[in-house]
Parts: sequence; structure tokens; C-alpha cells
Amino acid sequence: MIVIRKERTTDHNAVREITDFRLIESLRKSRSFIPELSLVADCDNKVIGYLLFVEVDIGGYKELLLSHIAVHPDFQKQGIARLLINGAHDKARELGYHFAVANGEAVFFKKFGYVPATTYDIEQPVFEKENGVYMAKYLNFTELPIYGTPVYPREYAMEITGGNNNVEKKKVDEDIIKRVKVMAKEEKKMSGATPHNEAEIGMIADTVIMPGDPLRAKYIAENFLSGAVQFNAVRNMFGYTGLYNGKRVSVMGSGMGMPSMGIYSYELYNNYDVETIIRVGSAGGLKDDVNLRDVIIAQAACTDSNYVYQYDLPGSYSPIGDFELILRAAEVAEKEGKKVRVGNVASTDIFYNRYPDVNKKWASMGVLCIEMETAALYMNAAAAGKKALSILTISDHLFKEGELSSKERETGFNDMIKIALELL
Ligand code: HPA
Repeated sequence: MIVIRKERTTDHNAVREITDFRLIESLRKSRSFIPELSLVADCDNKVIGYLLFVEVDIGGYKELLLSHIAVHPDFQKQGIARLLINGAHDKARELGYHFAVANGEAVFFKKFGYVPATTYDIEQPVFEKENGVYMAKYLNFTELPIYGTPVYPREYAMEITGGNNNVEKKKVDEDIIKRVKVMAKEEKKMSGATPHNEAEIGMIADTVIMPGDPLRAKYIAENFLSGAVQFNAVRNMFGYTGLYNGKRVSVMGSGMGMPSMGIYSYELYNNYDVETIIRVGSAGGLKDDVNLRDVIIAQAACTDSNYVYQYDLPGSYSPIGDFELILRAAEVAEKEGKKVRVGNVASTDIFYNRYPDVNKKWASMGVLCIEMETAALYMNAAAAGKKALSILTISDHLFKEGELSSKERETGFNDMIKIALELL
């Protein structure tokens, strides 16, 4: 059995056999050495791999540099490096580090969520070896301004500069910086960016709140989140990640209609590993007992759209919200003294219907309101095995008089956002 554990003094000889022990020994005596991040892969009491992260200074903050990773020649290509790196990342997160940097093969490090360091404005030190791409991994969320050129432990810098420390003081080599930037661009494809979303992997939280209007996303980021950082501006479909009550959350516009919601939610679930999307939107009342400003939790979404045909199912499909989220949203609303209704909604492709009265047929089947995105969201969630919920405010009624003032719209919208954020 293989276990990843902290290196012990008795492992030193075995580690010596597989990697550059001289440098490790001098690092071991330095302040940059963190015993919890000097790890061995132990296979039935034999050391078959070694990994060392050391502390570096990035913009005044203590972060990490992957200093050594080695696997015994008899045990290569068996996933030992993966075990070591993942084990070290878990520990590093636990210890509260925000970033790890590594100099090496981009394709290899990408598997562990590393992206070109320039993505985070972390620059490769000029004396670093030309060894692939200088990569960085985001470990823990931070509001701190962590960027700049990592300052390495003296021992490490001495080793790579051959003791000629003046190299460190040499003027920054424009060519190297340019080269790293070009590479960063080339590596963009592998970093998670899609044609519609320029965010790098790791920039988007597990839960995304999606209003239709990207400016509403900006409003939420500015008024409800702390330390929000913008991750997308492609097509002005703004997206931000920040903290709400200390919990990490993202917010991004979905655009109007199922094709637009279909694209953005698909990419969030499938390219960015997002677990939960909560739509916060407006809807037109259908049933007589639905009133302006009512908040509706969409248990399910009927639709007149063709979106479902891609799944080639042998019958009609019922797009539904996540049960636990529905339940919790209803509970949160009750606790906050806000009346909500849970029920069926309709997602339509047609805002200006030539025969608006057809929508009365939805009402006759108990459908509460009509909007244009939920069914696509619920189908994408189901297809990806993820979670979704739509929370809607009634902004108009198709068959009753009246409209919300802009102040009422804002209050209604804020109520909905608070329910969504309390679900985190
Ligand atoms: N139709 C579709 N979507 C809507 C409506 C509507 O009347 N009102 C708010 N969203």
C-alpha cells in the first residue's frame, strides 16, 4: 500500500538515493523549510517518492515554491507524483497558503490546476532555469494583493545561479518576460477559457449566482460581496468572485433566453467544475393568484423550447430544480419573513407572442409564471449531474394590470439575492 506522509529523519538515506540531497539538506536548515510539506511516498516501508515545497515571498506574503519532486525509477508512471502533489496541495491549503508556483512542463502541471503564473501577475524570477512554463496554482481564496516576482530562499537561488547572486540583481530581461507572456497566451486554451468566458480554472467558485443582466451581476458583486474580483468581461457578460459571510461565491450574468443561459451554464458546469447555479430573475405572472413582487421558487420548468431534443429521450422530459435547494430556499425565506411560493414555471422562447393568450393554457395547468431561462438551466444541471435552482420575482402579470416601479424592482431583487446568498 502507498501512503503519502511527512518525511522522517530515518528516510534521509532513501531520499538521498532518488533526488538532489545536497540542496535539500541546505534548504532543510533554512527558514523556508516547512516540515509538513517535505513528503515521502511510502510503499510498504520503502520510500519511492519525495516532494518538497518551500516558502517563497510573493509581494510580502509567504507562499510556496515546488522545489523538488522525484519518483524512484522502478515506480515511475504509476501515479506516484500525482499522489504526492495532491497530498501536498491538501496540506498546503490546510496551512493557509494561497499560491504555489512551479517551474516546469505546463501540460503536466495543468493536470493539477496550475496555470501560467502571469495569469495572477506572478512573474518568473529572471534567474529561473528555462524549464517550460512558470506556473502558479491558486490554493486558498485571498483578498490580499498577492502578486510580483517570488523571492526564493537564498539556498535555492544560490543553487540555480551557481552562487552568482549578482544575476538576481541584473536588470530584468525584457525578452524573458515577453516569452513567458507569449507562452501564457498559448497556454490559455488549456487554462479553462472558453469562447465566452475568459476565467482561468480556479477563479470561479463552486456556487454561481446568475441574474440575466450582467449589470445586475456587477450590482451584486459591489453591494453584497467583499473582495470581489472580476473574472469575465467577454461580450460584457460580467462575472465576479468574492466572499459572502466568509464564503466564496461567484456571480455572473446569463443573458436572456435559453440559448444564452444554455451556453453560460453549460460552460460553468462542464469547463469550470461549478457544482451549483442559482438563477435570480424576473418573471411574468400567469395564474390569477400570483401578484407583482411575489417571489417564486421554481420547482420545475415547462417549456416551449427545443432545447430538450438534444438528449434524444423516448418521451417528454420534466426539468426540475434541486430538491434540497428548493427546501432550503423555502426555509430561508420563511425565516426572513418573506413569503415565497414553490411551484411550476414556464420557460418560453417567445417574449412577444403573436397569440399571447396561449399562455393562459399554462396557467390552466397550475403554472405560476413565465420567464425564459430556467428550463435550459435545469436541463444542463441534470445532464452534468449538478445542482440548480431558479428564484424569480414577479415583475409584471400577463393577464392583470400593474407594473413594478424601479424602486420596487430593486427591493424585490434584493430579497431574492439574499435568499440565494443564504443558501451558500
Ligand atoms: N415573458 C417572458 N419572460 C418574462 C416575462 C414575460 O412576460 N416577464 C418577465 N420575464
